[in-house]
Amino acid sequence: MQITLARPDDWHLHLRDGEAMRAVLPYSARRFARAIIMPNLKPPITTVAAAADYRRRILAALPEGVRFEPLMTLYLTDDTPADEIRRAAGSGFVQAVKLYPAGATTHSDAGVTDLAKCDAALAEMERAGMPLLMHGEVSDPAIDLFDRERVFVEQVLQPLLERRPGLRVVFEHLTTKEAAEFVAASDGRVGATITAQHLLFNRNAIFRGGVHPHYYCLPVLKREMHREALLRAATSGCPRFFLGTDSAPHARHAKEAACGCAGCFTAASALEMYAEAFERAGALDQLEAFASFNGADFYRLPRNRGSVTLKKESWTLPAAVPYADGAELVPLRGGEPVAWKLRD
Ligand code: DOR
Ligand code: ZN
Repeated sequence: MQITLARPDDWHLHLRDGEAMRAVLPYSARRFARAIIMPNLKPPITTVAAAADYRRRILAALPEGVRFEPLMTLYLTDDTPADEIRRAAGSGFVQAVKLYPAGATTHSDAGVTDLAKCDAALAEMERAGMPLLMHGEVSDPAIDLFDRERVFVEQVLQPLLERRPGLRVVFEHLTTKEAAEFVAASDGRVGATITAQHLLFNRNAIFRGGVHPHYYCLPVLKREMHREALLRAATSGCPRFFLGTDSAPHARHAKEAACGCAGCFTAASALEMYAEAFERAGALDQLEAFASFNGADFYRLPRNRGSVTLKKESWTLPAAVPYADGAELVPLRGGEPVAWKLRD
């Protein structure tokens, strides 16, 4: 059995920089034509000039003959000027602006403390039609970790959409039934990405017989009922849901530690994992819209030409691959069989 799709895109990807970026980029470039590149570097990408430099570094790191288009984003801060948004909208290569609530996740300390402080920037985004990509969790330590996405919908997203009726938003890496239902009930200005791990696993994966740090990402995996709701959303045919891997590499020693970093490195088998999830749901016929059409349509970019073919053929994901500074990177499910294989 095999399936051919129009060449897909990854609408949420962490590439890092330097040697780390050079280590992980080929996995994404082999599978995806384009990717929305997250700006949470240290220091974060807050200006169009920094995004231009980062984009050049990515293009320079591509393997010979490989075509891949990095779609750049800016990191929203309390002080992002409206002018920077105007420049971004006119740049031709910055596609969106990313909201990290301060303290919500990896490298979010420069993020937004209060969206009210970003009003001028948000007004300009609304005017320019530039999407706001949201890490949709409140960062209040008093709110239970498993409730932070649901509370974000009530306390942040809903009021924002009312206050800025023309603002376009992407609710990134959905993990709950509540968020999926909210997006399904929204209009065309709200899109959402869903990762492969949130379609395949529930929170038991982190704790079965001991702590499995490679399954820890933020927003964290939730209960089975939420996984089922996400799978229903992704396979529903609703054009507001699209593929975003959130592949987020951290060296093995940074994951397997007393305080392990959040992030699953999935780029080495991401498309294959989505195929597995859709096949299990009996919805392989919906994979192409989710992976190759819906995101491009939302971002008002042309759909890709060309195609990729996946074959139902088992192969083994490497247990670890080389990363930066001599460290190893452990892919999610490293050393385990993968049911679908990308054909060259
Ligand atoms: O698990 C995560 N890792 N979630 C994020 O929001 C950030 C990401 C990272 O950059 O490592
Ligand atoms: Zn992310």
